[in-house]
Amino acid sequence: MLLMLLQVSAATMAEGASLPPAGASACSGCHAANTAGTLVPSLLGRNPVDIEAAMRDFRNGSRPATVMDRIAKGFTDDEVKAIAAWYGAIKP
Ligand code: HEC
Repeated sequence: MLLMLLQVSAATMAEGASLPPAGASACSGCHAANTAGTLVPSLLGRNPVDIEAAMRDFRNGSRPATVMDRIAKGFTDDEVKAIAAWYGAIKP
């Protein structure tokens, strides 16, 4: 299941989006342009504030997760901010 998710290519990201910030490629393997039919929620065009809040909650354990709790621990607030802004700017 995880392997299958990871194979979703970052190349499927919406064209014309600005270059992803550092670390974003660690997300786009799972949170790609087309997440339909998978358990991964889409982040495209989402309010960056919501993405940042979710990442904080995953990190401190207040939000249940299968994988995001571990992933969130590997990113600083600044990195998450940049990634969230980038996802938010992509038109779904
Ligand atoms: C291994 C696949 C995978 C990777 C890599 C990954 N995610 Fe996730 N993400 C998920 C899954 C699955 C969920 C659903 C919650 C869970 O089960 O952990 C999720 C949920 C989320 C949510 C909550 C969205 C919502 O609508 O509820 C956010 C925000 C998020 N991820 C951000 C990120 C960011 C930012 C990165 C990169 C730093 C990232 N994810 C990397 C699989 C992944």
